[in-house]
Amino acid sequence: MCGIVGYIGDKNCVPILINGLKRLEYRGYDSAGIAVIFDHNSQIVKNKGKVSLLEDKLESLHLFSNLGIGHTRWATHGIPNELNAHPHFNSEKNLYVIHNGIIENYQTLKKGLQKLGYEFITQTDSEVLPHLIDSFLKKGNSLFKSVQLSLNEVEGTYGIAVVYEKEPDKIIAARKGSPLVLGIGENENFVASDVSAILSHTKQIVYLEDGDIIQVFKDHFSAKTILDKDIEKEIHEITMTLDEIDKGGYSHFMLKEIMEQPESVRNSMRGRILFDEGTSKLGGLENVAEALAASNRIIISACGTSWHAGLVGKYMLEQFTRIPTEVEYASEFRYRNPIINKGDTIFFISQSGETADTLASLKESKMRGALALGICNVVGSSIARESNAGVYTHAGPEIGVASTKAFTSQLVVLSLITLLIARKKYMSIVDGKSIAEELSKIPDKIAEILKLNDQIEEIAEVFKEAKNFLYLGRGYNFPVALEGALKLKEISYIHAEGYPAAEMKHGPIALIDENMPAVFIAPKDSTYDKIISNIQEVKARRGKIIAVASQCDNEIDKIVDYTIKIPDTIRILMPLLTVIPLQLLAYHIAVKKGLNVDQPRNLAKSVTVE
Ligand code: AGP
Ligand code: GLU
Repeated sequence: MCGIVGYIGDKNCVPILINGLKRLEYRGYDSAGIAVIFDHNSQIVKNKGKVSLLEDKLESLHLFSNLGIGHTRWATHGIPNELNAHPHFNSEKNLYVIHNGIIENYQTLKKGLQKLGYEFITQTDSEVLPHLIDSFLKKGNSLFKSVQLSLNEVEGTYGIAVVYEKEPDKIIAARKGSPLVLGIGENENFVASDVSAILSHTKQIVYLEDGDIIQVFKDHFSAKTILDKDIEKEIHEITMTLDEIDKGGYSHFMLKEIMEQPESVRNSMRGRILFDEGTSKLGGLENVAEALAASNRIIISACGTSWHAGLVGKYMLEQFTRIPTEVEYASEFRYRNPIINKGDTIFFISQSGETADTLASLKESKMRGALALGICNVVGSSIARESNAGVYTHAGPEIGVASTKAFTSQLVVLSLITLLIARKKYMSIVDGKSIAEELSKIPDKIAEILKLNDQIEEIAEVFKEAKNFLYLGRGYNFPVALEGALKLKEISYIHAEGYPAAEMKHGPIALIDENMPAVFIAPKDSTYDKIISNIQEVKARRGKIIAVASQCDNEIDKIVDYTIKIPDTIRILMPLLTVIPLQLLAYHIAVKKGLNVDQPRNLAKSVTVE
């Protein structure tokens, strides 16, 4: 999920690698490193933290090399530190690999390599790669063949670059699920995870596809599939500006992250669903799974969007595990002298893993003997490290201040936790399998909803001048109403409130008139008829109504002003779909108001103060 740069040519690769990694800094990362090959020798330099710290380290070494690779890491397996930083290497320290992505079967591969005598020194999944490649080299294979054979053993996602002292005329690069490009220069060539890292050197770019593996020399390259089929690759002339490329071609990081959700949701569940048993496999909870299932009570402590995810989690956990579950604002929880008993399990949900109120509530809870579990996106963050155990969301770096893909990844993890507990308690294998099956279809359903982007932009055009909004939903969609309102508030500065739809008649309906748009989340579920009654109440008072509705619903169009039709799914997973149109609606309204969508006024991406 992070950054790769490679160079082979006649120049000194060190400044090219460092400047390339600096171009990738915006993507968020926790550590960086480079490896260079020269005179059949090699040097590796790694560092936790900023690329500039790595650059300082390199300053005194005065390295000169025509071949090298560099990496910025967004940790998924193994805390961010110098040891776990990439490149990783073989025992002889003459083969170096950098990797973006997740190797799902790394434990199996690691065990097999350890049986062959390979010793591992890091906590990462990526370290299996240099040892696996080495094992094929030792059988007399070329570097290219060794990498190709190794990748046929790997399950999961990768974008990799490999260099080897004994073949100092090439870089081997390959991709499956993590982007990788080849840059064509004059007597020099580049590889990178992102065009922005090398655009200052060349605009001649070759895009690798999943399953491609290439040999890159300084004056030519060749491409095959990992199944050894020869392929021709087209060279493209890049016309995008650097700023456009930083955002993946989108106008803002927030839009890029909304559009990334089919992939980020897929990454959150990757390797974690056991379809045959109808349950989930969460490595980070293995040691506490029995205690978790035996909890007398579950508490969820979080802030903002993460609190909304926690509220969805409450509905999931209570419906399927029958464990009483309470959701607390961390800032209130920490000061309220809360009742916490042994046998209580408390989840701390935080994208950044650094939110001060959530971290403080975690420390308070641990002091009182609760089992403290983290659900974080940033590996090695304070909340992740302070928790007794936990689950990473694997959403990848979220740059936009308004949380979008982190929210849906939190919902995925909460559904996996619910499945894990429920299948240890009352849920049948049949029910477990149907939830697991439906969960695996969610990424494609999100992709289908994202195709409605233009329609949602048109609706935003109609309502961009509104001064207030109401968001209304029932059941699982009540927290989504809260999240939709927060998204609009924090990036468009329009006042918005989320309510349980039935609650409207207890006061808020007094606000309704032709200037107060109401967004109803109204999929065809068990409370549909009730929602329709609420919609009628608003209509009778000349309210303008936008409905997020089911594709199969042909009735609702007759009574509301705008409908956004989405695919159906089971109730527990509905929030993963109903939130998408609300993210886009808020985004487009804010853009039409000419506001700074990625850095809204007064807000920080991580609130590390009280
Ligand atoms: C969400 O869009 C906001 N940026 C904010 O509410 C955020 O969710 C909250 O500050 C919690 O952050 P965390 O998930 O990093 O703990
Ligand atoms: N999974 C690898 C690790 O945790 C690669 C992470 C990345 O894509 O930066 O080191």
